[in-house]
Amino acid sequence: MNSKRNYCLITGASKGIGKALAEECAKREINLFLVALPKSGLEETVTSLAEKNQIDIKFLSIDLTKKDAPKRVYDYAKSHNLKIDKLINNAGVGGYGEMEKQSPEEVDNIIMLNIRATTLLTYYFLSDLQKFPKAHILNISSFAAFIPFPNKSIYAATKTYILFFSRALNAELKGTSVKVTSVHPNGVKTNSRIKESLKNVSMIAKITTLEADTVARYAIEGMIKGKKLIVPGWATRFFYILGSIIPYGFIVRIVGWAFRKT
Ligand SMILES: NC(=O)c1ccc[n+]([C@@H]2O[C@H](COP(=O)([O-])OP(=O)(O)OC[C@H]3O[C@@H](n4cnc5c(N)ncnc54)[C@H](OP(=O)(O)O)[C@@H]3O)[C@@H](O)[C@H]2O)c1
Repeated sequence: MNSKRNYCLITGASKGIGKALAEECAKREINLFLVALPKSGLEETVTSLAEKNQIDIKFLSIDLTKKDAPKRVYDYAKSHNLKIDKLINNAGVGGYGEMEKQSPEEVDNIIMLNIRATTLLTYYFLSDLQKFPKAHILNISSFAAFIPFPNKSIYAATKTYILFFSRALNAELKGTSVKVTSVHPNGVKTNSRIKESLKNVSMIAKITTLEADTVARYAIEGMIKGKKLIVPGWATRFFYILGSIIPYGFIVRIVGWAFRKT
C-alpha cells in the first residue's frame, strides 16, 4: 500500500497541540484528516496548512462529546475512502478546582471527551489500522497521568486512564502492525488561559513548560519510532524519573504545592 495515499486523523486540531501536530505531520508530507469543534477555527487552520504544504487535507467539525460522534468520524472516513494509518487522539479538556465546585456538566464533558471519545475512536479504527503494514495510535495524555493531582483530580485520572489504556492495548497488539504511543507533557503554552495561569506557577512548573511545536516534534518522532511512552523535555523527564523513586504521599504534597497558585 502506498503510504503517500494514507491519512493521519488528528482530533482537536484547530489550535494548540493538535494544530502543532498537524503542522509537524504536514512537514513530513502526511495527508491529514482533521477534527475539531464547529466554529473552532478549524477551516482557517486547514487553509493555512494547505497553502504551505503539498498534501491533501480533509476536515470534519464535530463535537466529540456527543454520543454518536466517534462513529460519525469513522463513517466520514469510510464514506470518503480515507485510508487512516495514523490515529492521533489529542482533543482533551482540563478543569481545575476542588471537585465539589465543578458542575456536573463540566465533569461529564471531561470524561466524555478525554475517555469516551478517545476509546471509541480507537475501537472503531482499530481493525482497519491492522490492515496496514505499519500503523500508529498516538494518545495525548499528560504528566498528570503519573501522579494523583489535587484540584485536578478528574482531569488527571482521565489521563491515567489514557496511559494504562495505551500501554495495555500496545501489549495486546504485540505481533501486529499497530504500535500505540502515549505522550505526557507537563505545561504547554497553548491557549491564553493556560499561558496566563503558567505565569503564576512555581519554578518546577515553569521549567517543565514547553511550546506546542516542541511537544509535537517529540510526539511525531516518537510515534514513528514506535515508542510506547514519550515524556517530552529534559526537565519533565527528570521529574518523571524522580517520581518513580520517591514515595507517593510526598509527591502529592509537592504537586499540590507546585501548582497551588494556578
Ligand atoms: N496545554 C497543556 O498544558 C497540556 C499539558 C498536558 C497535556 N495536554 C493535553 O493536550 C491535548 C491538547 O491540549 P491543548 O492545550 O492544545 O488544548 P486547546 O488549545 O484547548 O485545544 C484543544 C482542541 O480540542 C478541541 N476540542 C475541545 N473540545 C472538543 C470537543 N468536544 N469535540 C471536538 N474537539 C474539541 C478544541 O476545539 P475548540 O477550539 O473549539 O475548543 C481544540 O481544537 C489535550 O488532550 C490536553 O489534555 C495539554
